[in-house]
Amino acid sequence: MCGIIGILGREEVSDRLVQGLRRLEYRGYDSAGLCTIVDGKLERRRAEGKLDNLARELDASPLPGTVGIAHTRWATHGAPTRDNAHPHATDEVALVHNGIIENFRPLREELIAEGRTFTSQTDTEVVAHLVSREVERGSSPKDAVAAVLKRLHGAFSLAILFRQHSDMLIGARLGSPLVVGYGEGETYLGSDALALAPLTQKISYLEEGDWVVITRDGTQIYDRDDNPVERPITISGASAAAIEKGNHRHYMQKEIYEQPIVVAQTLQTYIRSFEQQVALPDMTFSFADVPRITIVACGTSFYAGMVAKYWLEQFARVPCELDIASEFRYREPVLEAGGMALFISQSGETADTLAALRHARAQGQKIAVVVNVPTSSMAREADLLLPTHAGPEIGVASTKAFTCQLSVLAALAAKVARDKGKLTADEEQDIVLHLTEAPAAMNAALAHDADIEKMAPLIAKARDVLYLGRGTDYPMALEGALKLKEISYIHAEGYAAGEMKHGPIALIDDNVPVIVLAPSGPLFEKTVSNMQEVQARGGKVVLISDAEGLAQASEGTIATIEMPKVHPLIAPLVYAIPIQLLAYHVAVAKGTDVDQPRNLAKSVTVE
Ligand code: G6P
Repeated sequence: MCGIIGILGREEVSDRLVQGLRRLEYRGYDSAGLCTIVDGKLERRRAEGKLDNLARELDASPLPGTVGIAHTRWATHGAPTRDNAHPHATDEVALVHNGIIENFRPLREELIAEGRTFTSQTDTEVVAHLVSREVERGSSPKDAVAAVLKRLHGAFSLAILFRQHSDMLIGARLGSPLVVGYGEGETYLGSDALALAPLTQKISYLEEGDWVVITRDGTQIYDRDDNPVERPITISGASAAAIEKGNHRHYMQKEIYEQPIVVAQTLQTYIRSFEQQVALPDMTFSFADVPRITIVACGTSFYAGMVAKYWLEQFARVPCELDIASEFRYREPVLEAGGMALFISQSGETADTLAALRHARAQGQKIAVVVNVPTSSMAREADLLLPTHAGPEIGVASTKAFTCQLSVLAALAAKVARDKGKLTADEEQDIVLHLTEAPAAMNAALAHDADIEKMAPLIAKARDVLYLGRGTDYPMALEGALKLKEISYIHAEGYAAGEMKHGPIALIDDNVPVIVLAPSGPLFEKTVSNMQEVQARGGKVVLISDAEGLAQASEGTIATIEMPKVHPLIAPLVYAIPIQLLAYHVAVAKGTDVDQPRNLAKSVTVE
């Protein structure tokens, strides 16, 4: 993963490179670095840790120069130290890299045997030496890069500077995203359009295997066979303002609060309100012919997929498999002919999910993608593209993208059910009606923020926390536990409430808070029985339910969180809010870095 940016500018670039990195920190924040050409020399500044450390280093020792590259790192090879921070450089060449060079070991040995010395433990440094070696042998930068790209295996995007060419920037992409931005007399490279949003809206997306030579005379893109190619220039919708924090203390808080609006925006594109029907984009295949659906995703998107499995099986009676993307390919799944594989991703770039998508395509599956970044690799490789309209999500812990995914997946489940003849028009109307109630119900859930903030200290002192739920509240319990561990570093597990007695109940004592998700409804009594089994063993229960549920079952709990009474279909959308707010307030109480928790990154573009 990691974020990269490059500018061939008319004016000095280092401040703008740092601003670009701020917009890319979601891709990693273990270390950061920057390189420009000053008086015919490659000059670098690098710093361990967050970007502010690099900014301080640059304040103390500024870097002039009108061409430069910069990087924010999520460590894969080598600890997050200053020596391992990008850019990596020789006297002739400096470069930044996102991805993994899988064959770096033999390449490194080859270069060491020639007497070259390495100063980092990274896979990236070999690329700097390889390009440098070609240049030292007399190749032009263009020929040097063309030769080296053919020797690299793995997934990467690169931005490269050459000491002797202060009017040139070269970029390359294979497996990791890279865009070219066109400004007024300036040209840019970036991991995404968002990084370049304050500089330009005119963007070309490089395709797999593309590489690009940017000079003051113009920009030329080449394909993987080194043929000159044209890639369309699109006007990016990425807005600089979309990633401001506004009045909120953290992006995560802002994004939690945006949910009623972005869910409404998303639903609007999937619902015909006059006809009370769900509406999907035009399709090249029919759900009626799909015998089986395979759902694949990672992290929070995986839990959205788990909710979707419940819905698809319940409404459409279509068999669904659910896989974690990193396991999917390697377990050699049996995929039924004519089946549909459904991929869910906020970023559309998660390496495991993208690889799984390509695997499913190679096995002849129809590819449906639910994705928040419409220009992402997954979006571009879909047969059926189902965008979420959450807007840019900056907090590393996913919130609004998740509830937007759920909205799209509910509409999808209804449409599959209709096409398969398992849902009447009246039942479809009923689903549409409940979905349109979701934004208001989510607003009502947000109204309990202050109560949740008040009870957060009860959880903040725990070492372990359990989350329990049944039906679609089971994936929500898993998501609640994930949110808590991601940002507060408290060990948390989600369990199907009925499974507690088969092992996890042994963990219960009076130090373990148990968060129970139990909206009143058909599964309520059974969940409450499991909750009582916990209480009987001294477990400290926090019950999240509606007024009716709380009236029946709050006795003996240490705290309750009241939710509006909602139809079971939209309960996951509404109950997402208290679990997000609880994790958020616990993290704030513990003083962790809510938006950039340790060791994580938002977009995981390595396997
Ligand atoms: C990372 C993020 C998670 C996210 C997961 C999948 O681990 O920290 O919040 O759920 O990647 O990302 P995707 O972009 O594919 O939804």
